[in-house]
Amino acid sequence: MSVHRTHSEDETIELGRTLAAELPRGVVLLIGNLGAGKTTLAKGIVSGRVSADPDEISSPTFTLIHEYGHGIYHIDLYRLEEERQVESLGLDEIFERADLVLIEWGERFPRLMPPARTEIHLRHAGVDEREIEVLKRET
Ligand SMILES: Nc1ncnc2c1ncn2[C@@H]1O[C@H](COP(=O)(O)OP(=O)(O)OP(=O)(O)O)[C@@H](O)[C@H]1O
Ligand SMILES: [Mg+2]
Repeated sequence: MSVHRTHSEDETIELGRTLAAELPRGVVLLIGNLGAGKTTLAKGIVSGRVSADPDEISSPTFTLIHEYGHGIYHIDLYRLEEERQVESLGLDEIFERADLVLIEWGERFPRLMPPARTEIHLRHAGVDEREIEVLKRET
């Protein structure tokens, strides 16, 4: 769908605010290494979607599932290792009723992710530079 480059944390938040307007309803997997900027981008997307100041958007640090209201969720599966642990969260119910579900480390559990989804791949391209690619998947 689109490829972007950012050069700072603030630029990634701004990109998230822009993407918020164009992301379709449903699940968005944020895919990238530790420190790639997944949580930072999520903060921008959420702030754009709920029209709030990015500084007011708190990210999940120890909670697995963070609900922002407006049908917006941010889920971080980093700490889970087994598929059955993820199964016990009841994500399907969230997927059904949510407007937007942002998920970090969800690609580790492909069987539990909906086949129709958006993927955002984040790659280190320098100390403060990131390449951020938005893809739409159907299968
Ligand atoms: N262009 C950039 N975009 C986003 N973050 C950047 C950028 N340049 C530097 N950074 C730094 O990289 C880090 C990104 O952290 P963030 O928590 O968003 O990553 P993450 O992908 O969620 O990592 P984790 O896998 O640990 O959850 C922050 O410390 C941020 O300041
Ligand atoms: Mg993170």
